[in-house]
Amino acid sequence: MANEGNVVTLPNHNGSRIRQAGYMSGFGNEFATEALPGTLPDGRNSPQHVAHGLYAEQLSGTAFTAPRHENRRSWLYRIRPAAMHGEFALLHHNHFHNQFERGPVTPDQLRWSPLPIPETPVDFIDGLFTVAGNGGPEAGAGIGVHLYAANQSMEGRFFYDADGELLIVPQQGRLVIATELGVMEVEPQEIAVIPRGIRFRVELPDGPSRGYICENFGAFMRIPDLGPIGSNGLANPRDFLTPEASYEDVEGEFELIAKFQGHLWRADIGHSPLDVVGWHGNHVPYKYDLRKFNTIGSISFDHPDPSIFLVLTSPSDTAGVGNMDFVIFPPRVLVAQDTFRPPWFHRNIASEFMGLIHGAYDAKADGFAPGGCSLHNCMTGHGPDAATFKKASNADTAKPDFITDTMAFMFESRAVIRPTVQAIDAPYRQREYQACWAGLQKRFHPGT
Ligand SMILES: [Fe+2]
Repeated sequence: MANEGNVVTLPNHNGSRIRQAGYMSGFGNEFATEALPGTLPDGRNSPQHVAHGLYAEQLSGTAFTAPRHENRRSWLYRIRPAAMHGEFALLHHNHFHNQFERGPVTPDQLRWSPLPIPETPVDFIDGLFTVAGNGGPEAGAGIGVHLYAANQSMEGRFFYDADGELLIVPQQGRLVIATELGVMEVEPQEIAVIPRGIRFRVELPDGPSRGYICENFGAFMRIPDLGPIGSNGLANPRDFLTPEASYEDVEGEFELIAKFQGHLWRADIGHSPLDVVGWHGNHVPYKYDLRKFNTIGSISFDHPDPSIFLVLTSPSDTAGVGNMDFVIFPPRVLVAQDTFRPPWFHRNIASEFMGLIHGAYDAKADGFAPGGCSLHNCMTGHGPDAATFKKASNADTAKPDFITDTMAFMFESRAVIRPTVQAIDAPYRQREYQACWAGLQKRFHPGT
């Protein structure tokens, strides 16, 4: 238990205040932390009187009767209950929604250049842009795929998503995510996960910032079973970090923004909702450094399926079939002999949204820039471009190939990821993307 709360404040370059993050290590366990000594009740969750005059409140992330290993809930001990705010009114946001194209979906390969950083002041919420998705909060399955590009911190506004948990993948600029349960600082090549319902504010200590978000409407993400790999490898549990309790005792004219059933709502709130002084439970935000991923691959021949790079999975009701799989392509050493080492040409039942966080992706020579993204849906053929094919076909596989300075990722879904109209129409969509395969020559020589 952390008895010392983290209430340190540091000035950022704007002169506003961000708080130093503190963390506990672990994943899927019961955590307990308090910013004031003596906050957490001893041996009970809802005593008649909570220390320091706080209110007790439970936040459930799963059904009450979910099996113990899938049960997520936290008890919050806070200055005011979450019920205290004004009436919600619909907030129109043109670019952030769950209106995935309902008409015909193109089977074309799709790719986009990076979402431009705005030139006028835009915060994290206003800078959200929905690219694609499937399912929705009503179905309790599927994903929303969003980008963000922003240049200023959220000030006086707080957000929560009732529709899904948020997997946030920064690509440019650090995020300071101040949540009800504590503060997380997340930099590019790290990820953050904010569970359903957790209220938070995003500050941008580096100014212009950009990244990707997967909004998961299905079962909460977890690290996968390892099967024959054994008890270690891929993302190790101890590298997932959960914030220590910290709180704001601040009153003012603020706004609370909720995402509820695919729409945004706003309400007045007269205080900071980040007023939880102590908490215990396992429905918690967490972060993970992708550079700590223990990459496993072939040491003989052939190219393993990308499931070997699985970081987190949201299972569906069909065993082995993910509602959403989060996969990364980190630095690694390729040693497979007599093998075409980049991903071969392929078509999958699953649909793949890819992004590039850092460096270059080894299956594309150019056109896939950090901050860009691509979408290859069910049974759409794709793979290395012509330049990559030529290079890898002529590589000396007697020597190891050190893939460095890279971090790509994939949100993979069992259902077709339907692009939004605004993504199809976006000026930064690469309308000539298919040309990257045009240079592949016919090489068929039946007589040889
Ligand atoms: Fe693929």
